[in-house]
Amino acid sequence: MSAPILELRDVVKTYGDGNGGRVAAVDHVSVAVTEGQGLGIVGESGSGKSTTVRCIVGLEKPDSGTITYDGIDLASASRAERKRFRREVQMVFQDPYSSLSPRLSVEEIVGEGLVVHAPRMSRAQRRDRCVEVLETVGLDAGALPRFPRSFSGGQRQRIAIARALAPEPRMLICDEPVSALDVSVQAQVITLLRRMHRELGLTMLFIAHDLAVVRHLCDSVLVMHEGRVEETGPVSSVYAQPEAGYTRALLDAIPIPDPARDRARRARWRASTIAEETTPA
Ligand SMILES: Nc1ncnc2c1ncn2[C@@H]1O[C@H](COP(=O)(O)OP(=O)(O)OP(=O)(O)O)[C@@H](O)[C@H]1O
Ligand SMILES: [Mg+2]
Repeated sequence: MSAPILELRDVVKTYGDGNGGRVAAVDHVSVAVTEGQGLGIVGESGSGKSTTVRCIVGLEKPDSGTITYDGIDLASASRAERKRFRREVQMVFQDPYSSLSPRLSVEEIVGEGLVVHAPRMSRAQRRDRCVEVLETVGLDAGALPRFPRSFSGGQRQRIAIARALAPEPRMLICDEPVSALDVSVQAQVITLLRRMHRELGLTMLFIAHDLAVVRHLCDSVLVMHEGRVEETGPVSSVYAQPEAGYTRALLDAIPIPDPARDRARRARWRASTIAEETTPA
């Protein structure tokens, strides 16, 4: 098996709990991601998903543990290595209303990374690249001079994805990229991300509340619970035979259009209800 492109080892991130103590938002998380892998990160609200990826991209500094990218420990990486990391690993955030600067045109937003990471590009080349990635996400050159406010939520998220794609990343990290969108456009954005992953071979970390989406988009899944990795493995086996009780509960809580599972779930529910009713209080 090839060496992982990204590896977290025993990463810990704590925050003050407001009472003089500390709580671990991320508690000794270890995970290895190989190039081209699509890893879904799931878990209930507050389980540490966002903090984990914020540690990866450097928005948070872990208390301890190591994060290596392409064999380089990010904590001791050189300026040049860090710059390469920032180009190769791009992020798409949950809320396309707050993640796009309202004062910048689409051309400036999408071209932003190119100014930094491809400084030798001429303005015309930059514009061509912007048009190219806008077309990839289903928009066109007409969007260039416009501002984010004149786009819908779904279109804004496409612009955010175009921005992430412009510097030709190797890895895309998406933190609930469709949660803030209308249900009607969620599927379009997911289909787009799926194409990015499959056709461009992008490595993808995809945080989601919706386990059905992860099944559709990712080949493996990591289940987080209270800052820890509860379970990890291929989507097919974790979904079919979850090892952890927590994963099972998570899967049960989410409507999945799977008649066999629905029947099994209803049967379990009936069994537990009967058990409760027959257990003396
Ligand atoms: N800046 C911060 N200061 C203090 N506590 C924080 C901070 N950021 C996160 N936390 C806490 O860390 C824990 C994990 O938060 P995190 O945002 O990583 O969860 P999450 O799994 O992404 O949740 P959600 O699904 O709601 O986005 C939570 O208990 C949260 O309150
Ligand atoms: Mg989060």
